[in-house]
Amino acid sequence: MKKFFIVANWKLNGNINMISSFFEYFQLYALNYLEKNTIVIAPPTVYLERVYKKIKKMNIFLGAQNVDIHLTGPFTGETSILMLEEIGAKYVIVGHSERRLWHNETDDLVAEKICLIKKLNLTPILCVGETKIDKDNGNTKKIIKNQLDCILKKLGKLAFQNIIIAYEPIWAIGTGISANPKDVQLIHEFIKNYIKKNDSSIKNIIVQYGGSVNIKNVKSFIIQPDIDGLLIGNASLNAEIFLKIVKTSHDIF
Ligand code: PGA
Repeated sequence: MKKFFIVANWKLNGNINMISSFFEYFQLYALNYLEKNTIVIAPPTVYLERVYKKIKKMNIFLGAQNVDIHLTGPFTGETSILMLEEIGAKYVIVGHSERRLWHNETDDLVAEKICLIKKLNLTPILCVGETKIDKDNGNTKKIIKNQLDCILKKLGKLAFQNIIIAYEPIWAIGTGISANPKDVQLIHEFIKNYIKKNDSSIKNIIVQYGGSVNIKNVKSFIIQPDIDGLLIGNASLNAEIFLKIVKTSHDIF
């Protein structure tokens, strides 16, 4: 059965106390909602192992927020995919607009990371999305097409097998202004059709939406036929709020 795919992207948030209290609450209820949801928690790198210890018996998965393109060597401050694999990570977020913006990550670098993540049989969660100016100029599809093309160019026709795509309009991230669910539906349809056009053998494309999802608006996203999951920042930091979102998708997906 297809499950709704929910990722908690904690970004640069959390601490040891927060993790303890988050999972104290989370463990009480999460199991009730796993039949219809796949849940991934992506904490800051330094807490990956701590979070893994909490979730490994729960059928909840560990995600990393970033990875380096090198496996080992003199790359101060970086984390390799071998290390992520060793400590139990299954997913890696790549191409998040915050990394593109603050760490100058280019489409080429993102493509390289995806290549490496797939080689090690972890699953990349590729973020794509447009700026407000792109949106206002009617360039959303063009921007996304370019972002996808870069991956296709590097990885070839089968590039999108075993990848999760997260459509995250940059202007909606952390702003409290989420995208219109019907517009998101159209973009997701576009992404899926574009991928299928390049790879007719592909089945089961998962496209998540991310950008100011909260308890109030979550239902309007879940009911769209091509929104297969959510990438959640702020609203994933509080276990009670996050579980309400997870419960909503359990109830209606
Ligand atoms: P937000 O972040 O839910 O806080 O808008 C989403 C994301 O950037 O993944």
